[in-house]
Amino acid sequence: MAKITVVGAGNVGATCANVIAMREIASEVVLVDIKEGVSEGKAMDMMQTSNMLGFDTTVVGSTNDYSKTAGSDVVIITSGLPRKPGMTREELIGVNAGIVKGVVDSILKYSPEAIFVIISNPMDTMTYLALKSSGVSKNRIIGMGGLLDSNRFRYYLSQALGCTPTDVQGLVIGGHGDTTMIPLTRLATYMGVPVSELLDAETLQKVAADTMVGGATLTKLLGTSAWYAPGAAGAMVAEAIVRDEKKVITCSVSLDGEYGQKDICIGVPVVLGKNGIEKILEYKLTAEEQELFAKSAVAVRKMNDVLAEMKLV
Ligand code: LAC
Repeated sequence: MAKITVVGAGNVGATCANVIAMREIASEVVLVDIKEGVSEGKAMDMMQTSNMLGFDTTVVGSTNDYSKTAGSDVVIITSGLPRKPGMTREELIGVNAGIVKGVVDSILKYSPEAIFVIISNPMDTMTYLALKSSGVSKNRIIGMGGLLDSNRFRYYLSQALGCTPTDVQGLVIGGHGDTTMIPLTRLATYMGVPVSELLDAETLQKVAADTMVGGATLTKLLGTSAWYAPGAAGAMVAEAIVRDEKKVITCSVSLDGEYGQKDICIGVPVVLGKNGIEKILEYKLTAEEQELFAKSAVAVRKMNDVLAEMKLV
């Protein structure tokens, strides 16, 4: 069974570790944080649910001691500051870039073969940073955003349809930003029926718009960034890898000509398995969707340029 490390024991990281334990995705989860005692406390709290909930995953906490993470198969990085109401994910780059780079370096000392799942924001740029600064092969660097955004899309669709989210299919590609993500409404279905046959254009537009600001809506309600869905999404990406599921999940990955883009990490549907990203699926987009994707890439690239200004890549 696998060993998974979650770096950052804040709301997202702790939720992620908890979902991994409850679903027994790994035999061991190591939760790392810089705040003295917090990861140990959260790990102990989770372990005290083990008998009640019937899971045998061991959760271990570590205050910045990366030797405990040695031999991890998958490492999920949630470190850094979350959004405050009114903030964009992009505004976090100054603080989070240095943190994420440091974490990747520390992890590689003890787990040179690990597959990375990046959640820290701005996620596409942090994924690009992890790729460029580490020299790790691109199949092992995965940004988690599209699964979260796609699940928000499915939620809003289910609300409009009056059905359960599990009967809805739909995906969001592009950047993980309020203005850069692209809900692919044309391809969304309710039990195989295109949603465009079931909902009018105005409703569909509202669903797409609500999806795009889904994270901001929660940040406003909560006073900080969301955690249940982001944490669960990180765990599900790890699950697809450690169980070699060959599951199709939208992730931020390094493109080399796919979707007309190069030298960028951005959200597209990929097949996830034991090697990380095993295949990039190239959907046939309409001219309009392709244009939105190109625009999204321009915005993501602009953020990546900041990394160069910071001399991090
Ligand atoms: C969100 C953060 C985690 O979308 O990016 O909630």
